[in-house]
Amino acid sequence: VVSFHFGVDADTIGKAHAAGAKVISTATTLAEARLLEDSGVDAIIAQGAEAGGHRGTFSADYRGAMIGTLALVPRIVDVVSVPVIAAGGVMDARGLVACLALGASAVQMGTAFLGCPEATVSEVWRDALEDAEAEDTCVTLAHSGKPARAIRSRYVEEVEALDEPLLPFPAQFALGRELRKAATSRGDARFPAHWAGQGVGLFRRVPAAELMASLIAEAQQLAGQLVKSPHREP
Ligand SMILES: Cc1cc2nc3c(=O)[nH]c(=O)nc-3n(C[C@H](O)[C@H](O)[C@H](O)COP(=O)(O)O)c2cc1C
Repeated sequence: VVSFHFGVDADTIGKAHAAGAKVISTATTLAEARLLEDSGVDAIIAQGAEAGGHRGTFSADYRGAMIGTLALVPRIVDVVSVPVIAAGGVMDARGLVACLALGASAVQMGTAFLGCPEATVSEVWRDALEDAEAEDTCVTLAHSGKPARAIRSRYVEEVEALDEPLLPFPAQFALGRELRKAATSRGDARFPAHWAGQGVGLFRRVPAAELMASLIAEAQQLAGQLVKSPHREP
């Protein structure tokens, strides 16, 4: 499976298909989902505004494409005929089951997996995630020149306050590389790009196999409960 994030054209998809790959790509609006389906993708990742990391927006100003997962997923599901993968704010079985109820065929989780020892992120980053809530995150151009959701930090605040225009992606990201490296090696959370979604309050340190097992077991249990008693007693 080849996954594209900032849009993909029909020619590239054709080459991936010729090599035997399936192609998935991110949409942040209904219009982007239509463009991707017309280009020939095999599945669409519907990335809600809650998502950690870079916005996949490729056809509009990102500020007009900050649509929550709850609103974005069913709209895309209703309009396209390829499977839809929901992304943004899914941290546990509750989010997973909710996305399936919205019509998604699968979910894509980023922030939740940063708590797995298998993820090669720094302990400074994991500590920052453990302390953060949704309101500590922001979508900013400051780190890379492209909009991305990260934990608000001194670096973000100082770069956003500058009068100078930012460099285009990925030059702006390259500019901060040494600073991020030095800060991380000193255990300083004020300068690195700590990508995080709005679900960060549910972050926990857990091995990937355990996370997957609990997602499956809890989702099955939760789906069963909802079917048995959709109107829960208070
Ligand atoms: C640390 C981090 C790195 C990411 N890198 C990529 C990437 O390289 N390519 C991509 O398509 N999406 C990337 N994403 C975005 C995810 O695919 C997904 O849209 C997002 O994580 C979903 O929201 P969540 O973080 O709330 O689970 C990244 C997300 C995070 C948190």
